[in-house]
Amino acid sequence: MKKELPVLFMTMFSVAIAVSLFGLQDGDKPGAESMETAAARLSSLTEQTVDPAEWGKLFPAQYADYLRTSERTGTKYGGGGSGAIARSRLEENPHLKTLFAGYAFAADYRARRGHAYMLADQRETLRVEAPFSQSGACLQCHSSNVTVYRNQGVADGAPGSPSEPLTSRNGYAQLQRGFEKVGKMPFEEATKLVDHPLACIDCHDPKTMKLRVTRPAFIQGIIAFAASGAIAAQFSSIEKWRAGNRAEPYDPNEAASKQEMRSFVCGQCHAEYGYDTEITLFYPWNNGFKGDDIESYYNSYKMPDGRTFSDWKHEESGAEVLKAQHPEFELWSQGIHSRSGVSCADCHMPYRKEGESQMSDHYVRSPMLGKLEACRDCHKSTAEEVREDVEDIQERTNRMLRRAEESVVELIREIVAARAAGYEDNQLQEAQEFQRGAQWRVDFIGSENSMGVHASGEAFRMLTEAMDLAARGRTAVQNMRLR
Ligand code: HEC
Ligand code: HEC
Ligand code: HEC
Ligand code: HEC
Ligand code: HEC
Repeated sequence: MKKELPVLFMTMFSVAIAVSLFGLQDGDKPGAESMETAAARLSSLTEQTVDPAEWGKLFPAQYADYLRTSERTGTKYGGGGSGAIARSRLEENPHLKTLFAGYAFAADYRARRGHAYMLADQRETLRVEAPFSQSGACLQCHSSNVTVYRNQGVADGAPGSPSEPLTSRNGYAQLQRGFEKVGKMPFEEATKLVDHPLACIDCHDPKTMKLRVTRPAFIQGIIAFAASGAIAAQFSSIEKWRAGNRAEPYDPNEAASKQEMRSFVCGQCHAEYGYDTEITLFYPWNNGFKGDDIESYYNSYKMPDGRTFSDWKHEESGAEVLKAQHPEFELWSQGIHSRSGVSCADCHMPYRKEGESQMSDHYVRSPMLGKLEACRDCHKSTAEEVREDVEDIQERTNRMLRRAEESVVELIREIVAARAAGYEDNQLQEAQEFQRGAQWRVDFIGSENSMGVHASGEAFRMLTEAMDLAARGRTAVQNMRLR
């Protein structure tokens, strides 16, 4: 009895949290309805059924898993911890305040946590409060918004009715129009349009339960990637489309294999994005998924006023710099697992037996929290050995990352000292460009959430290059001062 108490408490605690985060009503308990009633309701799911509790009546086991993303967990490098708010990256790592000086991320930057929190955490971060102002584009990856976009799109003149299938020509047109419209609203206004974090309808077709992608920026981004010449060996459906007549753009919902969709549904949010209140949010994949490809695309991207894309001007050094954001999809695409056909869901939503049938674990979380069963389908080592291999990569990456950050911070200090000595920004331009490149590479790996695991070799390469660029930047400052 004594042993069971904490478990019971935890369960009650999680249900209470889930009720508040997901906006559940009384009586919405998972599994409350019999299978027969559920079957009768199957036809009740439509393109307008946002509330996951409705889907939960048909699929109580997946729904119960899904609610568990409200549990507060953490591993050495993963999760937000057990506190009421997620742990602060800024407090843990003092270099970050220097790297992000003058940008919203220097005010508040926390570790991620479960999907249940995505809407609340975005509303509560200091990054959406004055003096910062954000737009409705922030909603794209933090809410269930497929119906909101479509309804807004139709109200704005997009063709057809929002009850048509999303994957129809009209459906896509509505989605895109609504996304652009909501993206132009101020954040405070836009966030009132949504009530749920990521929900079933964002990954599943309500009529067939087939996986689908619904984030407009992902759909546009993968179209641009397909049309590029970048290596796409991990994605056979893209290679196949490229070999065809290309009359229609690549359509992931039409062309991708089930195994590809098991990564695409995650990549629709766990990806780097280009954002500014003056432009429509985009995924910078026109040159490929590698960090360097994304950088080269940003370097060629012109803002409406003609200047080159940057996220902000560094407050101390004056450099025009970039902020990387959770490029899990991109880094994974450069690793051994994507090349071996291992999807995000294989590790983060593994299949399990439930009676006679097989189901996917909808409690999306760090694989390190479990017994690593999913890994051992392929890795014939023990759970402990797999765990040690992961930790080994993470420790190595973390050490390199800290050193690379230090290297960039030293460059920033050199530029600051030169400015204080009276050198002008036009004399410091070369050093500032080195800062942009070095900082981008460090941040790409630092903001990626696996601490190197998703592609250890690529992470190592990017950090080594970051150190080299930072060192060359310091040399540039010294040479300039000698001149
Ligand atoms: C081979 C298995 C594997 C694959 C494939 C994989 N991951 Fe991971 N992922 C991991 C491991 C291991 C970690 C480290 C977890 C930790 O440190 O607790 C991780 C960490 C993460 C984290 C941070 C987790 C946390 O708790 O903070 C996110 C987010 C993530 N992965 C998303 C993705 C996405 C999106 C994809 C596909 C594009 C993907 N992963 C593919 C194994 C995998
Ligand atoms: C709608 C966008 C969206 C989609 C789709 C999405 N995620 Fe997330 N994910 C997020 C956001 C946002 C967070 C952070 C929430 C927070 O910190 O409040 C997150 C957090 C996570 C975490 C950290 C969990 C923890 O407990 O720390 C993991 C792991 C993860 N996602 C993996 C995945 C995988 C795997 C998929 C695909 C099966 C996926 N996500 C699909 C947006 C998304
Ligand atoms: C392309 C999808 C995407 C967009 C657009 C997006 N986010 Fe996120 N956001 C994520 C994912 C994925 C995570 C979880 C991984 C992480 O924390 O790195 C996250 C995490 C967060 C977190 C929790 C961790 C932290 O950084 O403190 C906050 C707060 C947040 N986002 C705010 C915002 C705001 C504000 C905007 C608009 C400027 C925004 N997000 C736009 C995908 C997105
Ligand atoms: C982040 C995307 C995502 C969300 C959100 C999501 N699912 Fe899934 N779901 C998946 C993936 C991935 C699979 C595995 C599909 C496959 O392998 O064919 C899956 C499979 C399923 C299946 C088929 C059986 C199984 O478990 O493999 C059902 C039923 C299901 N989901 C129900 C739900 C319900 C109900 C919700 C909302 C409470 C939901 N899903 C939310 C990604 C998602
Ligand atoms: C579908 C098969 C498959 C699954 C599932 C899988 N892996 Fe792998 N993994 C591979 C292959 C293939 C390699 C490359 C050859 C090797 O090292 O064995 C690899 C390599 C690795 C490596 C070395 C990578 C490096 O960068 O040095 C680690 C660590 C690893 N896997 C961890 C995991 C973890 C953790 C999981 C589960 C969360 C997992 N794997 C699930 C197939 C898989």
